[in-house]
Amino acid sequence: MSKIIGICNQKGGTGKTTTAINLTSYLGLAGKKVLLVDMDPQGNATSGLGFNPENKHSVYDIISAGIGVEEAIYPTQWANISIIPSHIALTGGEIELVNIENRELRLRDELKKVKDAFSYVIIDAPPSLGLLTVNVLVAADSVAVPVQCEYYALEGISKLLHTIELIRDRLNPYLDIEGVLLTMADFRTRLTLQVIEEVRKFFKERTFNTIIPRNIKLAEAPSFGKPIHFYDPFCVGAKAYLNLAEEILKEKVIINMPFRLSSETESQASTNNLIGGN
Ligand SMILES: Nc1ncnc2c1ncn2[C@@H]1O[C@H](COP(=O)(O)OP(=O)(O)OP(=O)(O)O)[C@@H](O)[C@H]1O
Ligand SMILES: [Mg+2]
Repeated sequence: MSKIIGICNQKGGTGKTTTAINLTSYLGLAGKKVLLVDMDPQGNATSGLGFNPENKHSVYDIISAGIGVEEAIYPTQWANISIIPSHIALTGGEIELVNIENRELRLRDELKKVKDAFSYVIIDAPPSLGLLTVNVLVAADSVAVPVQCEYYALEGISKLLHTIELIRDRLNPYLDIEGVLLTMADFRTRLTLQVIEEVRKFFKERTFNTIIPRNIKLAEAPSFGKPIHFYDPFCVGAKAYLNLAEEILKEKVIINMPFRLSSETESQASTNNLIGGN
């Protein structure tokens, strides 16, 4: 059984990419085979995982250039984790898709072919409700929505929920809400406590128990191309994302494996294609 989880919120800077990277990482550390799909032209999930997308196929090639999904999946330096990278060219994706038949279904149809090779597929969506995000919502089994503990935290959420309803009605009847994730919480402030209360009142049991605190280490790690576990495994941000993975897996995670591939495997990983390669 594999599961595709889209990380969506059309609002910018709510912690989507940070969540995509670190959830992927901890699921991998739990021994699950995970595919991270970077649907955002900004490519932050790709770089945050330390993956160089140069001369590689991207999700853009799958969506608008007819490249088979198998050709765009690459192993990473992190055990159990593969990626379909993003590329700045994806910016044109919204426009070019307009002329493709069944344009909303491209990602779903391609991921279907490889889904069973992974326990989880995590998709980082861009901050918009355009065609790229619609592709994510159509392909996903469930959607996780990071909400920042800030003023206007729930701004735009009703529009996202409406879009999810439309997608359920027309294209993906089983699309579930995995959960709403409170991010960047500063428990010393009344504002954070108010947002937590408001979100829990509105989403009830759809709110993850895990709350991600504001933690500078989480903001630093991507510039080193590392998931938080490989940057500072004991910081509060790392513990929170481990908790999130456990909440999604519904089990405790015991990390007892070579976390990172050897440098030899690493260079091989960067040249081989996981599924098509040897
Ligand atoms: N828990 C956290 N504590 C501190 N900083 C954080 C935390 N989560 C994310 N950040 C930082 O906040 C910024 C926005 O986070 P992130 O890129 O994950 O959001 P996003 O929703 O993917 O943004 P976009 O909408 O632009 O794609 C980044 O600089 C990130 O490093
Ligand atoms: Mg992002």
